[in-house]
Amino acid sequence: YRSVGCERKEMNLVLNYAKKIAVPSQRLQKEKQQIARKVCGLINESIGKYNQIVGFALGGSYAKDTWLPEKADIDIFVKFNKKTSEKDFRSIGTKIGFESLKKYKPYTRYAEHPFVEAVVNGTKVNVVPCYDVNVGEWQSATDRSIHHTKFMSKKLTNSMKDEVRILKKFFLHIDVYGAELAKEGFSGYVSEVLISYFGNFEKTLKKISKLKKGDVIGKSAKKFSSSIVIIDPIDSNRNLGAAISVESLGKFVLASREFLKKPSKKFFKKPIPKRNMKNIDKIVVVQFKFKQRSDDIIWGQIKRASNALKTQLELDGFTVLRNSSAKDEKENGALIFLLQTKKIEESFVRVGPNISSEDHCEKFISANLKRSQLMWINEENKIQSLQKRKYSDVILFLNNLLKTNLKNSGIPKGLEKDFKKGVKIVHANKVSNKSINEAIRNIAVTDETIFS
Ligand code: CTP
Ligand code: MG
Repeated sequence: YRSVGCERKEMNLVLNYAKKIAVPSQRLQKEKQQIARKVCGLINESIGKYNQIVGFALGGSYAKDTWLPEKADIDIFVKFNKKTSEKDFRSIGTKIGFESLKKYKPYTRYAEHPFVEAVVNGTKVNVVPCYDVNVGEWQSATDRSIHHTKFMSKKLTNSMKDEVRILKKFFLHIDVYGAELAKEGFSGYVSEVLISYFGNFEKTLKKISKLKKGDVIGKSAKKFSSSIVIIDPIDSNRNLGAAISVESLGKFVLASREFLKKPSKKFFKKPIPKRNMKNIDKIVVVQFKFKQRSDDIIWGQIKRASNALKTQLELDGFTVLRNSSAKDEKENGALIFLLQTKKIEESFVRVGPNISSEDHCEKFISANLKRSQLMWINEENKIQSLQKRKYSDVILFLNNLLKTNLKNSGIPKGLEKDFKKGVKIVHANKVSNKSINEAIRNIAVTDETIFS
């Protein structure tokens, strides 16, 4: 009993610490409130002249009181009459943002529909159009948000809101916070949904640490196939888990087990700077510049490009242990490959047909004899041909592929122009760009929070 009591004490100590850093101070809450009030005033002034607009509401984590001190954007949803045309929805949807935030250098951002963002006294403010519809009658991707806010405001008690914040902190620390393509992790809303289903942070971790393949969190008549299935409580046809990568889920599961076994403040403190870069010499980087486009589009393209090159590398005999991609806020993109070795054997064996099949043998011999260093029959009666590789050095291989054979490389069409303007294939230690270096570190070093 004594030891159980001790463990409980330790857990409570850590949870109290986590809560202290996850809940914004009174002062910060006042500051945010002032910004929110000001912006709501401005929106209120601008919407009057558009009869398509029926009102607006604060949404997102600010409205639900689940925001983190360091990541507190303010989301405002402008509600349109559901009969509004797609065209008016688009144009008035952004106009409202530009008009009301004109003093704050507003700019457009792109999701399914464009919306407007500006930084007001250090806080990012999003003005997002949505249709004013009943549950289930969704017309655009943002229509659910207002219902999310209503649902969570009812469902979450004050202490549950703090549990959401603790969970968000945990996600941030193990680097899986955010559902955007760049991260493919757990969104703020998923954090709320998990706490609403399981009650608190500790119970959520307990469930997740025992997660089985095929488990469904929530209820739905529909079957989903993602590695974790989390049903949106206001829309049983929507699986929030579809946006979560296998890797993000894996990190959450391992970190949950680790935390429950040994609760520690280290799960909420600033990430430990990663040392020990002993795998850096096995990493090759394809660097390029791209023309501005929306985040989700460029991330989709560079992720596909990275996977396509991984396939090409493996087809030509290189073993790719891990691959990833990176971009900065400007125009620099990179595809990153951790290889078993950067230089592989000079030659390889091409396995031919069994001697019993006359046609195949003839074809194989005539196609391969000239370039064979050696041809023979092995114990399984198959013809073997030892041949010299065209490229045994990864940099030479990629250079040839991307500079003379781009069309057949699998790089998405949308990136071809950018690649033609110039790509550089370099060893990882030659990279100076900060964002790219961070991505290199992330695949070169064991995550000590999860594996210890
Ligand atoms: N939303 C969603 N699914 C996502 C992302 C967002 O349904 N993958 C909706 C949710 O209703 C969410 C709102 O859009 O509350 C605002 O999104 P965002 O600002 O990304 O999330 P927050 O919940 O506000 O969390 P954070 O504290 O990170 O801002
Ligand atoms: Mg938000």
